[in-house]
Amino acid sequence: MGEKVSLTYKDKTYEYPVITGTENEKAFDTSNLRKETGLITMDYGYQNTGSTKSSITFVNGEEGILRYRGYPIEELAEKATFPETAWLLIYGELPTESQLTLFRRLLTENSLVHENLLHFFREMPPSAHPMGILSSIVNALGLFTPRFYDAESKADEFDLMVAGLVSKIRTIAAFSYKASIGEPFVYPEADRSYCSNFLNMMFSSHTKPYVVNPLMEKALNALLIVHADHEQNCSTSTVRMVGSSQANLYASICAGICALWGPLHGGANQAVLETLIRIQKSGMTIKEVLERAKDKKDPFKLSGFGHRVYKSYDPRAKVLQGLMEKIFDQEDYHDPLLDIARELEHQALRDEYFMERKLYPNVDFYSGILYRAMGIPTNMLTVMFAIGRLPGWIAHWKEMHDDGHLKINRPRQIYTGPNERHWVERKDRT
Ligand code: CMC
Repeated sequence: MGEKVSLTYKDKTYEYPVITGTENEKAFDTSNLRKETGLITMDYGYQNTGSTKSSITFVNGEEGILRYRGYPIEELAEKATFPETAWLLIYGELPTESQLTLFRRLLTENSLVHENLLHFFREMPPSAHPMGILSSIVNALGLFTPRFYDAESKADEFDLMVAGLVSKIRTIAAFSYKASIGEPFVYPEADRSYCSNFLNMMFSSHTKPYVVNPLMEKALNALLIVHADHEQNCSTSTVRMVGSSQANLYASICAGICALWGPLHGGANQAVLETLIRIQKSGMTIKEVLERAKDKKDPFKLSGFGHRVYKSYDPRAKVLQGLMEKIFDQEDYHDPLLDIARELEHQALRDEYFMERKLYPNVDFYSGILYRAMGIPTNMLTVMFAIGRLPGWIAHWKEMHDDGHLKINRPRQIYTGPNERHWVERKDRT
């Protein structure tokens, strides 16, 4: 007999089975709770709610551990390529030589977007946020390939759809940037790596040849890897939520991109840079910024700090710090925003408010400074997060569909509105 949790309500005791994960995390299964007791659980923001079992990513927030399919994030960031990591997340194992060759070929062959979609980029207002453009075009990609809508039943079609999305998302990101600065698009080239291709599409032009710096290419690769999955976060849960209605993969990913956009989630990387720039320009002191962040009447929060799961240093932020030191030392590059960020971290980690609440820098705190070193503009930072997160979203969508008992995600509520009442004619209704 496995472990059980007993719950007593109105003098009756009910038992719920305990579920144990491979890392010994525990849950108790309340699927029958309402049927048996008439009660539902209430958990604002899903702080204690497990929505699924998953074998993709393990996070231990107390000890600062992050593993994809069992592999520590630090090892992957050092040794893997982003396409290898994408394969690992989506298909469950590191690719063999022949699988990787096939995946690379599919990425190359599927890197272009339909030419009709180019009007879309050109006709968006130049001020349009690139996350809005990205989500719209990813959804539109599906309209150009409707035969993929039921692809989950055909493995080779699914593989093609995956490669198309992973490859095209960087083309879309680079094209949206080029459109926003009014420059002609630069097309992907077959003999470049995933990251080199992206940097080239972003920064080369007919009048300005661009040579990809191998150190930046390596840094971009590691950045995309550390963002690639993070179990049931807001955007991934959104992808699962939308996918649970049997909506197609493009629509589900489009919804995930929109969820990522918000400043409490992926949009925090843009907010961090904006805060650092504001400090630099306004001469506001670090102490003033921290006081604002602590003031409960002020909506301002210190972006890049705190996490629902990590109650210790975010392991992704540690990887990024190592990368930054390498780049800044080797390239003799200096960014005054980095000095501000380091001082902000130093003071926050010694501040009682942050210590008590276990608020540490998260992945978004330093990623923007790294992207800035590559020349990526501030409003593109969350798009970079989305490129990285795409394999995770696909992996979760696939896992949910492969599970065999796809159930529509549909939480319940406790209604707090008026009781039944009846229609009142106008004439200043009361
Ligand atoms: N600045 C000031 N106070 C904070 C911050 C912050 N960045 N983060 C949390 N707190 C306070 C919060 O006000 C609360 O205080 P109290 O207990 O007095 O009410 C306490 O710490 C617990 O925070 P919470 O908001 O209840 O925690 P949460 O798990 O609901 O939210 C979070 C997590 C990441 C949304 C939040 O820490 C936050 O808003 N951080 C800033 C935005 C950010 O950096 N987001 C990126 C997260 S990492 C990338 C990703 O995976 O999305």
